[in-house]
Amino acid sequence: MKVLVASPLPGDALHQLAQHHDVVMLSEATHDGALAAARAHPDASAFLSLLTVRVDGALLAEMPSLQVVSNFAVGVDNIDLDAARARNVCVCNTPDVLTDATADLAFSLMLACARRVVEADGFLRAGRWRSFSPSLLLGRDVARATLGIVGFGRIGRALAARASGFSMRVLYTATREHAHPFATRVSLQELLSESDYVSLHCPLTPETRGMIDAAALARMKPTAVLINTARGAIVDEDALADALHRSALGGAGIDVFRDEPRVSERLLSAPNTVLTPHIGSASLQSRAAMAARAVEGILDVLAGRAPRFRVA
Ligand code: NAP
Ligand code: GLV
Repeated sequence: MKVLVASPLPGDALHQLAQHHDVVMLSEATHDGALAAARAHPDASAFLSLLTVRVDGALLAEMPSLQVVSNFAVGVDNIDLDAARARNVCVCNTPDVLTDATADLAFSLMLACARRVVEADGFLRAGRWRSFSPSLLLGRDVARATLGIVGFGRIGRALAARASGFSMRVLYTATREHAHPFATRVSLQELLSESDYVSLHCPLTPETRGMIDAAALARMKPTAVLINTARGAIVDEDALADALHRSALGGAGIDVFRDEPRVSERLLSAPNTVLTPHIGSASLQSRAAMAARAVEGILDVLAGRAPRFRVA
């Protein structure tokens, strides 16, 4: 059967896919690229998508034989799940295998912001270091500070596990209570006002879009640091840049942006900010495992088996 694939992937999973099916690579991993491929191959039975491709009703309508969209990501906010259900198209994703890598990046951003690592590196490389100085580049402790985790699923809980090694007090919000040995569920308002570090780990949904807006940022301590490895549109980026420029917030570590790959000038020039290009899951092992999981979903559906990681 014919399978459209949005992009080459790490590891050998696509090689395995090609042993069973006819693989057609998109020329670019965008909505336009996918539309062009779908029009050229309307008989496609499966689509291995990336989060850069908006999979909407118009795209699905170009592939009447489509049985499955398998997203190379755990987040599926790029896919119109209702449109897929309406067409009986199964949607799969790649959870779990990227949990540790993404939690590691969130914790790295937290440490980097707290201890001004990127700023210090630039300071040294610019030849500005004269001698050891007691007050040079003072940051803030992570150990024993309060961490607020917004979204207490796989990645949020993996971050809490890392935080326990730093003796942090951990607060969380989620849509429901989770039994946990040391993290306490609180309201979003309480989490924002109590935390020294706030890290976002909820999906992008109509409820979470714009959740961290100017009012939410104003609740945070002026020394607090916001970490976002979830989705850019959960945060009002203009309000965030404004808070950082006004020193109303202590810093930000941001891996995901509203309009990727574009990042606003105001955010680029904001102080105490560490920005990474959506690399949350970007360890070789995690990305290869995601590729294997995305291919597994396609092989299962096309063979008539129930896929393990089905979201619609
Ligand atoms: P998950 O296990 O499904 O966890 C999501 C958590 O968010 C759950 O605890 C859920 O609550 C909570 N949640 C949902 N709506 C909420 C709301 N309105 N307010 C507060 N919490 C809410 O997902 P995951 O595997 O941890 O992944 C989380 C997200 O991270 C993904 O959706 C994706 O967008 C992002 N991500 C980014 C990268 C990257 O490269 N930067 C990598 C991987 C994932 P309940 O527990 O009550 O259901
Ligand atoms: C990455 O952003 C993912 O959702 O897997």
